[in-house]
Amino acid sequence: MSSFIYLTCQPGSEQTLKNEVSAINGLRFAFSKPGFITFKTDEDNIAYRRNAVIRCRDFVFAQTAGHSFGVVKVEQTENNGDIADKIWSRFLESEKTTDVSIYAPIRIHCWERCGIVAGENGYEPSISRNALAMHKQLVSKVPLNVKMATGAKDPFLPAQNGDNVLDCVAVTSNEWWLGTHYVDESSGEHSRWAGGVVPLQLPADAVSRAWLKFEEAIRWSGIEINNGDTCLDIGAAPGGASQALLARGASVIGLDPGVIAPQVLQNPNFTHSRFRTNQVKKKTFKNIRWIISDMNVAPNYTLETLEDFINNPELKISGLLFTLKLFNKEMADSIPSHLKRIRNWGFKQVKAKQLIFNRQEIMVACK
Ligand SMILES: C[S@@+](CC[C@H](N)C(=O)[O-])C[C@H]1O[C@@H](n2cnc3c(N)ncnc32)[C@H](O)[C@@H]1O
Repeated sequence: MSSFIYLTCQPGSEQTLKNEVSAINGLRFAFSKPGFITFKTDEDNIAYRRNAVIRCRDFVFAQTAGHSFGVVKVEQTENNGDIADKIWSRFLESEKTTDVSIYAPIRIHCWERCGIVAGENGYEPSISRNALAMHKQLVSKVPLNVKMATGAKDPFLPAQNGDNVLDCVAVTSNEWWLGTHYVDESSGEHSRWAGGVVPLQLPADAVSRAWLKFEEAIRWSGIEINNGDTCLDIGAAPGGASQALLARGASVIGLDPGVIAPQVLQNPNFTHSRFRTNQVKKKTFKNIRWIISDMNVAPNYTLETLEDFINNPELKISGLLFTLKLFNKEMADSIPSHLKRIRNWGFKQVKAKQLIFNRQEIMVACK
């Protein structure tokens, strides 16, 4: 019997993600819409399918992944209550034949596929009202034999380790695609939120949307920036990412020839080093613990710059969080070789992902 795996990605990254998935034997492309893509396998073995989902969700261009087990079509005359009934009955049917288990605590993730890239015309990813309404209906109609996870009524609580998530994705206006994924310590921050959308809203005083991508990156990477840590922010201007660090009580040196916003400059824990990276002596940054970088330059330039810092014997860097800009689609082809180079830097953990709030770039974390 065939089964399916679904993945979500930034709209426009489907082909790059397909290329990554081609590394898994036994998965064949099945269906794609901007931001949503499925693969088919004839493998009956549950371990194979679980392992395939784990590998898929760790791909650079995958934002979430899970088992896909059906589509519920919406007739014009149906309301959300009718659709919720259909979703639950499909879920109960699937329990007999798929990896869905009604006995593991169930949490519900509802979201709408959106073909718009974050940051385009002011759009920022969030869970739509329609998806929240469907969540509410599903919660009100939970079948008696289904065990719900603690707090599962609240769509804004993150999934916990051990939760079995029922994924309901409005892929088109009249189709809810159903899936499941399991959440544990290794499944990553994005597996805890509907559609991987980490619930962030740009604060009114944020000076750039870089705040969003570095907030998301800090949570995803597990890098713990503590009160009193000193951070170097390379390519800091106007200062949105620095604000995320300052809010955690860190001291920040912003290295950038550009203009830093006054509200960031006024923070007593912020220092502006108004230079390009090649104009400063690396050893002067002796107390730096973390480096974040967001320069609008080609990946090789970013990597050479970071190498200059981490190879300096006078610096003791605990970790890095940085963007690699993809000025065109072809630049994604070089990501495996960039990651190989980064893995040689000696950090214990290296991860890379095109985050929900990233645009034409990926985020890399080294710890
Ligand atoms: C996308 S913006 C950074 C946004 C910023 N991270 C924020 O949080 O608001 C890119 C910045 O990289 C800076 N940049 C580019 N090359 C640089 C270099 N060699 N040294 C320092 N900064 C550089 C630019 O001046 C520009 O301000």
